[in-house]
Amino acid sequence: MVIRIVGTGSSLPEQVVTNEELSRVVDTSDEWIFSRTGIRERHLVKGETTASMSAEAAGRALCNAGIGAEEVDLIIVATITGDYMTPSTACEVQAALGARRAAAFDINAACSGFLFALHTAYAYLRAGMYKTALVVGAETLSKIVDWEDRSTCVLFGDGAGAAVLHVCEMGTKGNGREEEAGGMLAFEQGTDGARGKVLACRGRQNNNLLEKNPFVPSYVEMDGQEVYKFAVSTVPASIGRVLDKAGTAAGEIKYFVLHQANVRIIQSVAKRLKAEEEKFPLSLSHCGNVSAASVPILLDEMNRKGMLVRGDKIVLSGFGGGLSWASAVVEW
Ligand code: ACO
Repeated sequence: MVIRIVGTGSSLPEQVVTNEELSRVVDTSDEWIFSRTGIRERHLVKGETTASMSAEAAGRALCNAGIGAEEVDLIIVATITGDYMTPSTACEVQAALGARRAAAFDINAACSGFLFALHTAYAYLRAGMYKTALVVGAETLSKIVDWEDRSTCVLFGDGAGAAVLHVCEMGTKGNGREEEAGGMLAFEQGTDGARGKVLACRGRQNNNLLEKNPFVPSYVEMDGQEVYKFAVSTVPASIGRVLDKAGTAAGEIKYFVLHQANVRIIQSVAKRLKAEEEKFPLSLSHCGNVSAASVPILLDEMNRKGMLVRGDKIVLSGFGGGLSWASAVVEW
């Protein structure tokens, strides 16, 4: 059985906010933001929602795959910023696309969310339950950042990316050898919940019948240096393990498609893996950190630029809130 990514799509809000524009409302500068993070600008929603961007990205991925919405069996959206607690964003995507046959649900694994969702969809397909899954990573992080906290608000952006995962038919040649190979080669994922609060955003507080609790809005809070230390040690180790599982050497990998948190984290991972930085494509400069949407947005940009050719081996890796991490080796 070969399970492949057969289509990608993405959707970014129309509004672009540059570092220079941000520095007019927050005490920061383009120089500080770019030198510490690699970010120049980010897309921020005005009228768009997590569901509308998810549906647009998903529709584009289906179009890219040449697969109709009615063929989709499963929709998983990875997000921490859904528009509703219920229905899930995946249910809204199902309705928007008219994918009536599909089961739909969301996953919350923050910046690792797309990889966790991809792995979950893969497991359903591998078990023979479904043939076609839509996997989406989408965030409207601008809803949950405190625009007065310069240590966090400059980092994030909004957007969505999607991939279609499909069980491809395998023929056999005369000698009985499998004709098609590749697809999803290996996964590995993990969490360290004990340290999870170094990156946090509270949910709704208790609403006691008899006590009048004042409503306190909650925003993203982060110990940036702890997150940095976590990322630069955990990500290379995770990639090393998944390469071992796939029986693939780092040198065979054409691209390492990493969660776009910070260019310094990506450079450090490249160094630890002894891989050329050119193998680590970036969308950070124009998207910022879009949490669960980072990896599928970048993957779609690469796909549309023709950077991915059948047979290329790539690594996908997400890491962040939880603390969580996940990596995959994919043969395109
Ligand atoms: N503009 C100007 N100055 C700022 C800003 C800003 N936006 N933010 C903080 N500063 C100041 C601080 O007030 C501090 O000033 P002080 O020395 O006078 O006290 C100084 O800059 C240094 O602050 P630090 O927080 O120590 O800055 P640091 O060098 O650690 O960089 C950063 C912060 C970029 C967040 C870094 O810790 C980092 O890269 N962390 C990784 C975490 C990350 O990328 N998180 C994204 C979300 S999680 C994820 O996706 C995995």
